[in-house]
Amino acid sequence: MIKFSTCYIALLLSSVAFAAPASSSITAHSSAVVASFAAVSATKSTVGSASVVPSSTGSAASSTATVPYISLNPNYPLWDSSDTSEPQAERGSLGATVIGPTDDATVKQNPDLLAPPTTDGGSVPNAKWPMSLSHNRLQTGGWARQQNTDVIPFAANMAGVDMRLESGAIRELHWHKTAEWAYVLKGTTQVTTVDPMGQNYVANVGPGDLWYFPPGVPHSLQATNEDPDGTEFLLVFDSGDFSEDDTFLLTDWMAHTPAEVLAKNFQTPISTFAEVPAKELYIFPGQNPLPPSAAPISPAGTATTPYTYNFSSVAPTQVNGGTYKIIDSTTFAISKTIAASEITLEPGAIRELHWHPTQDEWNFFINGTGRVTIFASSGNARTFDYQAGDVGYIPATMGHYVENTGNTTLHFLEVFNTAQYADISLSNWLALVPPALVEAHLGFSPEFISTLPKTKQVLVGPSNSTSST
Ligand SMILES: *[C@@H]1O[C@H](CO)[C@@H](O)[C@H](O)[C@H]1NC(C)=O
Ligand SMILES: *[C@@H]1O[C@H](CO)[C@@H](O)[C@H](O)[C@H]1NC(C)=O
Ligand SMILES: *[C@@H]1O[C@H](CO)[C@@H](O)[C@H](O)[C@H]1NC(C)=O
Ligand SMILES: *[C@@H]1O[C@H](CO)[C@@H](O)[C@H](O)[C@H]1NC(C)=O
Repeated sequence: MIKFSTCYIALLLSSVAFAAPASSSITAHSSAVVASFAAVSATKSTVGSASVVPSSTGSAASSTATVPYISLNPNYPLWDSSDTSEPQAERGSLGATVIGPTDDATVKQNPDLLAPPTTDGGSVPNAKWPMSLSHNRLQTGGWARQQNTDVIPFAANMAGVDMRLESGAIRELHWHKTAEWAYVLKGTTQVTTVDPMGQNYVANVGPGDLWYFPPGVPHSLQATNEDPDGTEFLLVFDSGDFSEDDTFLLTDWMAHTPAEVLAKNFQTPISTFAEVPAKELYIFPGQNPLPPSAAPISPAGTATTPYTYNFSSVAPTQVNGGTYKIIDSTTFAISKTIAASEITLEPGAIRELHWHPTQDEWNFFINGTGRVTIFASSGNARTFDYQAGDVGYIPATMGHYVENTGNTTLHFLEVFNTAQYADISLSNWLALVPPALVEAHLGFSPEFISTLPKTKQVLVGPSNSTSST
């Protein structure tokens, strides 16, 4: 007990950013927060025996820290969007109430912006964009809204588009400078393409399935009537400043070519072009497409490397805390510049602390709520909260986690501008270097170090993270 108090007081004195939870504010917060504070007490009461805490009396190999220890005070999100209380810009003894104008709905979705964790520091640029804030492009037959560097300026290497097509509707034949990777959210989309060899490819792609078109390769997208609502899909481009409004469209080109040139090119009278639209169509209504088998037969053959991938039929890896499945050019060969991981995280579970050595990460949150802290080195760290329909972005090498902060499964995508998926796990890293090295840095006990996972966990379940009793 003496050992505990000494240690705990040392922690109090040494923690630069310590903010004691004011008991008066507890009642104002949700039951989840109350539970969080209960967890704090549990942690405190086990400090003396918990192997993760440096002991000031120490074993021979105890930490020789030359700086103060971290604060053990948790930094839970202080409310969620279902909270009925007024969110305040307060965390423990820090901050003050909001007495000026406030946007309640936005504030409730972003608890870690109004009352950031005390572990946040310095400046990390904005890494969140709700597609709901995008200016939508409404057309007859569907719509398209996008995220690019206009709205997340540091998202340099990927951009995203959320596109909706009513049954039969067509995103017109077009091409662009960047590659296009897609994940179908709902319904079935028929895609078509013709490659530089003159080989063609037509396929129907369903929910959870993918397509990929290399830069400059022409394609079209069309909703089938398999789902009476048509289709919605997510497009990811391998360049951050891509704009869906700057693609090369069939109709736009025709309308900007002299009619006699068109006639000469197609070896036909000018009258053939009487019904060519004078303006781009972009998205327009159409009939349910014929099955892919009805496509023309090319003398050059069908593309041997498929442009689509049946990702939905790949069984995910099931681990404590959820599921994941990774897709990159090692299995989806054509997808040379985009790799991805599809993750489901159970309530309380976490996508473990990790980073990607050379690739930026573009996220799309499909369902549930999550929290990410981006560690940007040199004391810079910032925490973001995400909901379904939000885009997130994490630059290469920056440490992060994704935590399910809700009561339902968090379903999201990690997308990378690369041929091959790669990550480095913090706990796996520490498990595989000499234990004395870890002990010297972090003061962990040899017993605790021996429990570190020698194989990567990827996801860690709630039972792992709350087992501090
Ligand atoms: C994907 O798999 C489903 C069933 O497993 C199949 O019906 C469908 O044709 C496949 N799609 C593609 C594009 O291969
Ligand atoms: C999101 O999850 C909820 C609850 O788990 C479920 O009812 C709903 O259908 C899901 N929505 C989508 C778009 O997947
Ligand atoms: C999560 O569950 C708790 C307890 O059942 C409830 O009070 C809270 O409103 C729920 N939160 C959300 C976001 O649904
Ligand atoms: C987490 O839990 C799983 C299953 O209970 C177990 O296999 C794994 O070793 C645990 N990881 C840690 C770090 O305790």
